[in-house]
Amino acid sequence: MSLITTLTRTWLTRTLKPFTFLNEYDRVLPYGDLDRLGLYIHIPFCRSICAFCPYCKVLYDAEKMNRYIDALIREIHLVGETYAGKKEVTSLYFGGGTPALAADRLPEILDAVRAHFVITEGIGLELHPDNVTVPVLTKLRDAGVTKISIGIQSFQPKYQEVLGRTLSHAAGGDFGPEAGSPDTSRRGEDCPDRHADASPAPFSRGESPADRLAAALEAVPFETVSMDFIFALPGQTYEDLKADIETAFTHGANHIAIYPYIDFTFTKSTVPVMPKKEKKALLDRITAWCASQGYVRNTIWTFAKEPEAGYSSMTRENFLGFGCSATTLLRDQFKINTFSIDEYCRRIGEGTLPTCLTTRFVKRQRMVYYLFWTAYSTRVDPKDFEAFFGGPLKKLYGFELWLVKALGCAVEKDGVYEMTPKGAFYYHYYEQYYTLAYIDKMWGILRKEAFPERIEL
Ligand SMILES: C[S@@+](CC[C@H](N)C(=O)[O-])C[C@H]1O[C@@H](n2cnc3c(N)ncnc32)[C@H](O)[C@@H]1O
Ligand code: SF4
Repeated sequence: MSLITTLTRTWLTRTLKPFTFLNEYDRVLPYGDLDRLGLYIHIPFCRSICAFCPYCKVLYDAEKMNRYIDALIREIHLVGETYAGKKEVTSLYFGGGTPALAADRLPEILDAVRAHFVITEGIGLELHPDNVTVPVLTKLRDAGVTKISIGIQSFQPKYQEVLGRTLSHAAGGDFGPEAGSPDTSRRGEDCPDRHADASPAPFSRGESPADRLAAALEAVPFETVSMDFIFALPGQTYEDLKADIETAFTHGANHIAIYPYIDFTFTKSTVPVMPKKEKKALLDRITAWCASQGYVRNTIWTFAKEPEAGYSSMTRENFLGFGCSATTLLRDQFKINTFSIDEYCRRIGEGTLPTCLTTRFVKRQRMVYYLFWTAYSTRVDPKDFEAFFGGPLKKLYGFELWLVKALGCAVEKDGVYEMTPKGAFYYHYYEQYYTLAYIDKMWGILRKEAFPERIEL
């Protein structure tokens, strides 16, 4: 597996040099003159921990979260104060973990952000379905959130069971971040006891959990309401996935994300991976069905019912990340914050950035990184590439462009390369190798070591 990624990396970057991450960083981050900068904030707390989930998170604890948010606000000021004036940024996304658990402190976090940045394209935030209640949604909207993404995974109990999640019937009631009583005696990662503290409100009036979500979303509307699904689960059929998407679009969503299930080595998930042929057939059919319904594919994994709906924090050319495990990409520099919440708070307390690793891309490495994430949006515009790198894409990657077209993975329309469904599947297939060879390896180490000396990928 890593042989494939190593050979591809060597070919595309035209160098044998691996991506080398070192325990070092710039004290002043050079973002001042960068265009179209995005912001990301990580909130690593969840009411319960899902066995399949690879993200940096711990069990919710009010005291720990408050201490973390104090540090987060300081980190935003530490970085923001290095630029005189307010820097224009496109968007701000809150990810996690379950950032909606911090709804009460959102105004403070956003005051810190707005002291240094002007956000032009809205604020996005991730919610667990249990957070989709009128009081929580109202807090989010009042703070300025314009886009939300809800982690449904599946509306169907059989797949919720496979994933070890349930859809609480509490949506629309008053189960908010401060409601319930989180069991703070259970600490640490990957606790197998899921949602034991989520004591859902009684299920009444024959309403389904999806109806409850819809009622709350109708009462408090957002520009984008996205719902996340995990597909390629054992036994999952085209009809199952189609039914989930239909339920989403008839219950308050105007955007959906369908992520193929990835079995990270360091999680405790026991869910088997679907064979490649079956997965391809499922993805091909669901993509064709979405197209037949007029849903616009705006990234590899997302489809919008309304063209203006969008939710993606991944396709930025440059971004600043705040919070533990958050990454920052500034021109040729890519850095990662420590995954340890305690070490994160300690470093910020000392007035030091919480960076644990930095890599400095050589030009071809940066180009490959750029192309990989731009292709995620399913289109690559050579004009944007040239504006970013100062050199023509066709001259630098002429053979590769010819090859992807010859293989039927992309077509050229008005000078722009658009991915075909075949290209999207193979991108996904390769992305899985990349995820398992690079992300899985790196996150596996960073979960255990707050500040490793060096990682080579
Ligand atoms: C940070 S979580 C979402 C927010 C919220 N905590 C929740 O669970 O509802 C982001 C999304 O990543 C996706 N995801 C998590 N683990 C995954 C895995 N092993 N394979 C594929 N997708 C995964 C899920 O769809 C999830 O909604
Ligand atoms: S899927 Fe969401 S709720 Fe579950 S552990 Fe991951 S971030 Fe937390």
